[in-house]
Amino acid sequence: MSLKVGVLTGGGDCPGLNPAIRGVVYRGLDHGFEFVGLEEGWRGLVEGKTLPLGLNEVQHIINQGGTILGTSRTNPFKKEGYVERCLATWKDLGLDALVAMGGEDTLGVATRFYTEHGQHVVGVPKTMDNDLSATDFTFGFDTAVTLAMEAAERLVDTGRSHRRIMILEVMGRHAGWVALYTGIASGADWTLLPENPDIDVAAMSDHLKKVHARNKVALVIASEGIKVPGVEEGKEELDDFGHMILRNRGVGEQLAQLLEKETGIEARFAVIGHMQRGGPPTLFDRMLGTRVGYKAADLVAEGDWGKMSALRGNDVIGVPLEEATGTLKIVTPEWTRFLETFSK
Ligand code: F6P
Repeated sequence: MSLKVGVLTGGGDCPGLNPAIRGVVYRGLDHGFEFVGLEEGWRGLVEGKTLPLGLNEVQHIINQGGTILGTSRTNPFKKEGYVERCLATWKDLGLDALVAMGGEDTLGVATRFYTEHGQHVVGVPKTMDNDLSATDFTFGFDTAVTLAMEAAERLVDTGRSHRRIMILEVMGRHAGWVALYTGIASGADWTLLPENPDIDVAAMSDHLKKVHARNKVALVIASEGIKVPGVEEGKEELDDFGHMILRNRGVGEQLAQLLEKETGIEARFAVIGHMQRGGPPTLFDRMLGTRVGYKAADLVAEGDWGKMSALRGNDVIGVPLEEATGTLKIVTPEWTRFLETFSK
């Protein structure tokens, strides 16, 4: 089947993107497709910036973090004339289909190109935040949480030597999955999630004092999306998709100050930040990236437009893009109750 297929990666990068690009290209070659890479997400389509994409470009990238196509948070539906420019590039390049890899924002744009403009689009879910609906997991999450878990363990070592409270601030935006998994896997004593905005400072402080008294390093994992009580919020900075930019809010530091004051125990914090998004993907993310990429090529071959390859149980299936982008997948009360069991 001779189809020309464009591939782009949008939004924040994460480990697993390169295996996914490799997966779609390798499987696409089985179908006889020709590929073209769009540079830096939707910006590549707006500006007509392309990259060669074939076996030579993808044969060595299974273990590489980042994305060989580059990425951006460009939203063509936000700027006058950008949608028309995308459609013109689509035509000029002679694309029969486009595979868009991304999270809620990137796939939201893909959905609109499909529903409002009838374009032949297939999605691949990606986000280290794991907050995309309609798929059990997204690649990037496993690597990001593994790195945060290792960072937390290092903090515990130094915390033990100094008898300090240690705080790790992790990414995850407005969903607490990264903090939740990091907290459970690193044996944290208190984990703060954006889904639970009413922080009980007295209960948290009492608990940390109790833990400290029995000679355990009191470890706190805080999601970047929380609000620390008593702290005045600065002006909100929004991205192209209208989402609050969370960097530099300093919730880790604010917590350290608060807890030192409330408990009388010395506290230190660390922010893992973009280190969580780099480095080689874990085995899980290599496998998931490869599988969802492979499935995306099959969806193109079947002409099953407006779908995304999703992990359901242990199967990778096609699901409507609209299901994935309608609502954010956030941490449920059941998970919060599970977490509470480990705050003793
Ligand atoms: O959505 C992924 C993510 O890593 C979030 O967890 C984080 O808030 C954001 O991206 C950071 O974005 P940027 O790379 O633009 O600073």
